[in-house]
Amino acid sequence: MLWIFAHPEQRSLSGALRDEGLRTLREHGHEHRLSDLYAMGWNPLVDAGDFAHDPADRLVVGSRSRQAFDRGELSDDILAEQEKLDWADAVILQFPLWWAGMPAILKGWFDRVFVKGLAYGVQDRATGNTLRYGEGKLTGKRAMIIVTLGASASGVGPRGVNGELDGLLFPIQHGTLWYTGMSVLPPLAVVGADRFSDERYQEAVETLQKRLVALLWEEPIPFRYQNGGDYDEHLVLRPEIEPGRSGLDIHRLAG
Ligand SMILES: Cc1cc2nc3c(=O)[nH]c(=O)nc-3n(C[C@H](O)[C@H](O)[C@H](O)COP(=O)(O)O)c2cc1C
Repeated sequence: MLWIFAHPEQRSLSGALRDEGLRTLREHGHEHRLSDLYAMGWNPLVDAGDFAHDPADRLVVGSRSRQAFDRGELSDDILAEQEKLDWADAVILQFPLWWAGMPAILKGWFDRVFVKGLAYGVQDRATGNTLRYGEGKLTGKRAMIIVTLGASASGVGPRGVNGELDGLLFPIQHGTLWYTGMSVLPPLAVVGADRFSDERYQEAVETLQKRLVALLWEEPIPFRYQNGGDYDEHLVLRPEIEPGRSGLDIHRLAG
């Protein structure tokens, strides 16, 4: 299991939960590797050399890195993360919610590690289909987000001012993890994280332990497959599916 940790402070709630989580994995005999992004001094900035112009003269990220990926010529820090990813059957992404999203250092992990040829731009040779949203080179791996939020449970509830958790995490869970083919498990969200009692901490640890123990058999979020027949040739959900409805929810199977 690969644990990606994106928090600058070891002595934070996030740091304490990570330590409890890693202890649980050890106790249950799960091998794990840790990418502690701040502690590693992870560079989140895509290098200028990773930019190139495509034939239509648009600036694209990763077209050089596509060739570099195919030839194994990426920089050592990226290769090391890709090797860990390749090794892992499951990936934990742990971060505090900052400005309604992930910290920049973690975004920069995705930007640099999830290169063309590995995480996008993958074609099925037989059908010519682009493999994304449920299919791709990372298919077979599981992913789970562990996120702490300042917001209260009601504040991320159905009518909460922050929006719903599924919506806040949609760009990561659907737009990134599911895009690459990974199975995404329901997130573990620790709400009200700025005012935490010992009792709530114990509850959070127990929930975390249960989720980690069940990680390899828990049911993933049933996102729809792009190439599974639910979307038309323009990648629009067919009118007979969820008729008249729109929004992010329609991209997961109802019920
Ligand atoms: C820069 C910054 C932005 C934040 N943005 C949000 C936010 O958009 N929504 C939210 O619920 N909490 C937000 N918070 C609160 C953090 O999520 C909270 O402090 C953190 O999860 C607590 O865990 P920690 O002690 O491990 O840092 C923000 C905190 C910081 C420092």
